[in-house]
Amino acid sequence: MDVLHGLVNGMKVSDEKVHCDYAGDPTRSSELIINSKKPFNAETPGGILVKHFVTPVDLFYVRNHGPVPEIDPKTYEFSVSGLVGQPFKMSLAELQDSANHVTISATLMCAGNRRNELKDIKPVKGVGWEIGAIGNAEWTGVPLRDVLEKAKIDLNNPRLHVEFVGEEDCEEITKYGSSIPLSKAMDPKGDVILAWAMNGKPLSRDHGHPLRAVVPGFIGARSVKWIKEINIIDGESQNRFQQKDYKLFLPSVDWDKVDELWDKSVPISWLAVQSAICQPQNNEVIPKDQPYSIKGYALSNGSRIVRVDVSLNSGKDWQVADIVHQDKQEQKGWENRYWSWSLWTLNVDKFPSPCTVVCRAWDICSNTQPENAASIWNLRGVMNNAWHRVNVKGA
Ligand code: MTE
Repeated sequence: MDVLHGLVNGMKVSDEKVHCDYAGDPTRSSELIINSKKPFNAETPGGILVKHFVTPVDLFYVRNHGPVPEIDPKTYEFSVSGLVGQPFKMSLAELQDSANHVTISATLMCAGNRRNELKDIKPVKGVGWEIGAIGNAEWTGVPLRDVLEKAKIDLNNPRLHVEFVGEEDCEEITKYGSSIPLSKAMDPKGDVILAWAMNGKPLSRDHGHPLRAVVPGFIGARSVKWIKEINIIDGESQNRFQQKDYKLFLPSVDWDKVDELWDKSVPISWLAVQSAICQPQNNEVIPKDQPYSIKGYALSNGSRIVRVDVSLNSGKDWQVADIVHQDKQEQKGWENRYWSWSLWTLNVDKFPSPCTVVCRAWDICSNTQPENAASIWNLRGVMNNAWHRVNVKGA
């Protein structure tokens, strides 16, 4: 193994990394925008995102930290152990026979989505993403709570977490692992599932074949792929992807100050309210006074998106966009389970090019997005949900 030490954007990188072997990685759609080849990280172009409420699997963003493992579903099994009365192992077939199958429509979004806008302010460490580290899918599996019920866990212990560990060896010299509170895992309205299918087909290798967690409303990092272990633990996972990544710090905290702060900062779990303009793209040319449809997405952490505001003059005046596609959960009597994004459109009769288009969303709790990315800049470049701005050129 070849250990790498180095500088990223001129900053010291304290973490050791190894070169992994990517020769066995699957082939991918040429329509994805590649942000890193090894490990493979690629996003969906904005224009494609807004074409589908359910993102096609081959166009769904991929966020890997190492090579994609090749797992035979016939011999595959995962373990459930740790602070349980009854540890066990389960094969995929046993899992599929063990409980009722459910299909959950849920958006996954990487905490690093829109990192490039933070990079433009001041360098940050991490794979660069525009607005496409997000996708919405229909996930089929069994509720995690049904599996955990067999393990005889002390459900009255509020400290317990459910840790998922993946199969693959990551560049960061560890297995990928992450945890969620037991309360989220056991909540019948939390909709956490162990999924083997995406959009009606077995998971593709990039998206976790044969089994992954889907944790609706949480950052994508918690939806662990290629599950090898499920551990019931006291407190949060000690895995680096829980402890030394996906944490928020003040804009004033830089790499020389962060060491003593990692342990004091709470790992990110729930998503914040977010929206982005997918059409037009930055620096696109739109002839002045032409009719044009501005399109984008918005989501929160299960709370319904109730309004998306769009400005054609850098945020001075606003118009309300039409929400054209959204979960139908309210009709089923569900509340705060809007796990899928909302797609929105604003039709403009005479587009005022050149101009700066801005969007911001509101959820049912009246949460909205901060105006400026600079106020939420953080050294890992995560959770950028500032107003999204797109510059349009005239012709
Ligand atoms: N699980 C494993 N085992 N390894 C990973 O690298 N990446 C996480 C999560 N689960 C990851 C993982 C991150 S950061 C995200 S955003 C989502 O998977 C991305 O899921 P996707 O690649 O299916 O879009």
